[in-house]
Amino acid sequence: MPRTIQKAPGKIILFGEHAVVYGQPAIAVPIPQRYATATIEPIIRGDEPTRIIAPDIQMDIPIDDLPYEHPFVQITKLVKDLGKLHHLPAMKIHIHSTIPVSSGLGSGAAVSVALARALCTFLGIEHTNADISAMAYEAEKYHHGNPSGIDNTVIAYSRGIFYQREQPIKWITIGRPIDLLIVNSGEQKSTRIMVNQVAEKVAVNPEYYNQIILNVGSLVIQAKKILESGDIETLGKLMLKNHQYLQELHVSTSTLDQLVMLAMNAGAFGAKLSGAGGGGNMIILADHEQIPDIEHMIHQAGFSNTIHATIQ
Ligand code: PMV
Repeated sequence: MPRTIQKAPGKIILFGEHAVVYGQPAIAVPIPQRYATATIEPIIRGDEPTRIIAPDIQMDIPIDDLPYEHPFVQITKLVKDLGKLHHLPAMKIHIHSTIPVSSGLGSGAAVSVALARALCTFLGIEHTNADISAMAYEAEKYHHGNPSGIDNTVIAYSRGIFYQREQPIKWITIGRPIDLLIVNSGEQKSTRIMVNQVAEKVAVNPEYYNQIILNVGSLVIQAKKILESGDIETLGKLMLKNHQYLQELHVSTSTLDQLVMLAMNAGAFGAKLSGAGGGGNMIILADHEQIPDIEHMIHQAGFSNTIHATIQ
């Protein structure tokens, strides 16, 4: 069994986070500038156990020492089931990621996708993108209890998606390339906490919050059409409106709001938080030529962790 290397991209949610947990559609795209890698090599000496080596999270241990519900253990078990294998050979599994953790770029799902694909390839197990996505979904449950499935789907297929729970995946078509500046607010967040926080609000005042969730759903349907038509100015307005809805769901922070305001004052078409909120990343939509100036200004304001991504 030769050494195998598999990569999976990060992702960004363009529209519809949180509402997607409640069955509304959302739009997400892969961000190949940041990625996770899983490398697997055989262990020749038969008495050595399978080891997971993930220096980014200071991990170098036999896989059997991890708790049963850990994503690495879950993925390994699911791959074994898919291949109908009774026994796995001893392997050295190296995990590495350039995706910042807990920032809304899908680091957990990307590691799961890279690992699932590397294991299947290494073990010679036939697999589809749907298999890989389903395995990463199970692992996502460890990161937060009720994942919508958008992260594992966009990353496993590595394509822009219009995603809705329990519905066939639709691909998005981008009428004209769009330039995004992804800005890390520097605040780490927990998707689990943010999703639970919204669930508590919905439980206390369902009428009010369900209406916001429905409004986000309609906005996402509109955004899909606008993405196809290439009307970037309108797309920017929709982003800003989506940010307002996320504020109403209480998932924004003063730093994220400040970044949105900075972007708008600098002449961006639109901006919003992206992902679970409570920190993490936000995105700015602007003209290609304008991005370097906006990026410079954002750096001056103290936010040095940015990615310029052209989505096409
Ligand atoms: O983990 P994040 O920051 O990419 O957020 C995921 C998006 C949510 O809609 C908040 C949760 C989900 O499972 O869709």
